[in-house]
Amino acid sequence: MIKVDVSNVINEEEIAKYSDKVASINKMINEKTGAGNDFLGWVDWPNNYDKEELERLINDAKYVRENFDVLVVAGIGGSYLGARSALDALKGIKGVDKPEIIFMGQTFSPNYTYQVLEYLKDKKFAINVISKSGTTTETSIAFRLLKSLLEEKVGKEEARKSIFAVTDKEKGALKTLCNQEGYSTYVLPGNIGGRYSVLTPVGLFPLAAAGVDVKAMLKGAQEAQKEFDNADLKTNMCYRYAVSRDYMYRHSHPVEMYVTYEPQMSQISEWLKQLFGESEGKEKKGLLPTSVTFSTDLHSLGQFVQDGSPILFETILNVMNPNDDVVIPSDKDDLDGLNYLAGKKLSYVNQMAYQGTLKAHEVDGGVPCNIITIDKMDAKTLGYLFYFFMRACAMSAYLLEINPFNQPGVEIYKKNMFHLLGKKGY
Ligand code: PA5
Repeated sequence: MIKVDVSNVINEEEIAKYSDKVASINKMINEKTGAGNDFLGWVDWPNNYDKEELERLINDAKYVRENFDVLVVAGIGGSYLGARSALDALKGIKGVDKPEIIFMGQTFSPNYTYQVLEYLKDKKFAINVISKSGTTTETSIAFRLLKSLLEEKVGKEEARKSIFAVTDKEKGALKTLCNQEGYSTYVLPGNIGGRYSVLTPVGLFPLAAAGVDVKAMLKGAQEAQKEFDNADLKTNMCYRYAVSRDYMYRHSHPVEMYVTYEPQMSQISEWLKQLFGESEGKEKKGLLPTSVTFSTDLHSLGQFVQDGSPILFETILNVMNPNDDVVIPSDKDDLDGLNYLAGKKLSYVNQMAYQGTLKAHEVDGGVPCNIITIDKMDAKTLGYLFYFFMRACAMSAYLLEINPFNQPGVEIYKKNMFHLLGKKGY
């Protein structure tokens, strides 16, 4: 489904030097014995997920598709970025006709929140609230607002049937509310953290409601699990990629730039930035993940990449066959001089832009480039890709001797904010 070429970043001799380390970390991941080992539930999830729950989820999602104009998904971080990025990657700017999917609870922005609430006033909408802890402030405020608008519009009884929650099996304020109100509820297992949860109901409920084949996604992830559970650095593309990142980090390239040539893939870069940034950026260590969408950003950050401080390497996500394409027309006057491209597809121009840029960056700019080639973007490939990156991330973080599954740093802003807001106990 994908090809991974790390040869411009690290050579075979250097890769081989990682063999022992990778073997022992891989054992740790498979046997769940490393730091944060109680959060390794995602490793076997593609095979171990609750099959009955998935059927119930697909049925509820069908009900949402058939009965509502809009599904508002309230969540943030790992409870938001997976579904958001998958929807963009699979549906593009067309989005989903019915139900339209709108995200909320990922910001405190009064403008955004007001505009969504106004928009919903004359829409038939359902709510999918997603929070593992059930106490995240952005999500909780959004849910309070949404719930009250919905109850006002359709009454408490009807609202209950229009709310679908994803949260912890037993803990948290949202779980208590779900029990009390009898919402249809799905479990984010205790042993899976937010940013590793895209293949659980956290990602799958909104995606199924958008008409995505979530079973195919899980199938893709199953294939990835089977392929990447071994420590063979000659064939395991996932760990070859993880090792290339570590090598870059230790050789003065602390910035990884995700590159796509498809705007609809740019949310995948956002998911990647959260996955790697929140997993690795600890104890004053870690690569800084950043992203660009070319050719758009060749007219902005392209200058820096080509000629600026030599601190970054690229990881390019190149989708070979787009789902849609456009042919460039001929023009009898040819004033813009574009007739040399008449009859050619834009996918061809995009690929040439990619090849030209790759050469410019690698050869002239001296920027090391990893290349991940994706044949075609569909649900199965995306499931495979999500698993590939989660496993690569765990390996990368363990290579840095970091616990990939906690995020102690994000608590500090919350404490300050709660103090300023006058929350009890802060
Ligand atoms: O990856 C993570 O763990 C975080 O980004 C969480 O997903 C995010 O903070 C939202 O948390 P919760 O699902 O508890 O609302």
